[in-house]
Amino acid sequence: MARPSLFCAFLFILTLEVSLVMGAPTNCGPIQATDIDRIEFSLNLEFLEAEFFLNGALGRGLDSFAPSFAKGGPPPIGARRAILNPLAAQIIEEFGYQEIGHLRAIISATGGIPRPQLDLSAQNFANFINQALGVEAGQDAVIRTLLYERANEIVLPYGKTVAEFVNRTAELKNRLANCGIKDEGIIVPQSLGAENRTNSNILSANTDSLSYARTPPEILRIVYGTGSENKPGGFYPNGAGGNIARRYLSPA
Ligand SMILES: *[C@@H]1O[C@H](CO)[C@@H](O)[C@H](O)[C@H]1NC(C)=O
Ligand SMILES: *[C@@H]1O[C@H](CO)[C@@H](O)[C@H](O)[C@H]1NC(C)=O
Repeated sequence: MARPSLFCAFLFILTLEVSLVMGAPTNCGPIQATDIDRIEFSLNLEFLEAEFFLNGALGRGLDSFAPSFAKGGPPPIGARRAILNPLAAQIIEEFGYQEIGHLRAIISATGGIPRPQLDLSAQNFANFINQALGVEAGQDAVIRTLLYERANEIVLPYGKTVAEFVNRTAELKNRLANCGIKDEGIIVPQSLGAENRTNSNILSANTDSLSYARTPPEILRIVYGTGSENKPGGFYPNGAGGNIARRYLSPA
């Protein structure tokens, strides 16, 4: 199976850093949870991002910089240093350090949770990318700008342009989350552009150009790659940590 370029992998990870909808019952509506549980839920994504950026840029992860943050959770599976151009390497290294800061802030406020088992293997990314291509064949803005500049380049080995890639990964996330359009490509029909007037779409946002928000279950459906908050997989082979994620993992 083709290995995805790191480029594609970034698309997937970066657009996960979304504001969480706080506050019930349908599959797309707000959920009931304490503030602490909500903040700890966000640690799942912070761990993923920290490990992905640090390992991608430097070839070593959180255990090299702040081992106590993992609270005994296992190291990620399959994390590797990526081949990056100097600009990308610098940006990703900076993002990695920023994630350490986010983790520190949250852990000192809430006490934290053990790092969940993460799967950052090329095979896992390939599964997501193949799913994205197969079916219907602040940080985020920086990366989307870089991507936009390269929108017409072909991503090897897939033979798709960067713009198509962003579109397909956005479509996959929308499909997995199952709550409408909340992620968009970087080149879009004007109906998704700013004020229905642009095809460029550096910021993915709603009809009032406000950022989309996703609830914790929507996020779990995406990062598990299964479309179900009850079925772990994808980046979290054993499920995400903390009270919110665990409540959906009741024994089948
Ligand atoms: C993906 O591209 C198609 C064709 O331009 C468009 O109709 C669709 O809205 C795009 N999807 C997203 C999520 O940007
Ligand atoms: C843009 O078009 C959509 C329908 O595609 C409409 O609902 C929305 O109000 C329009 N926005 C503006 C600012 O005209």
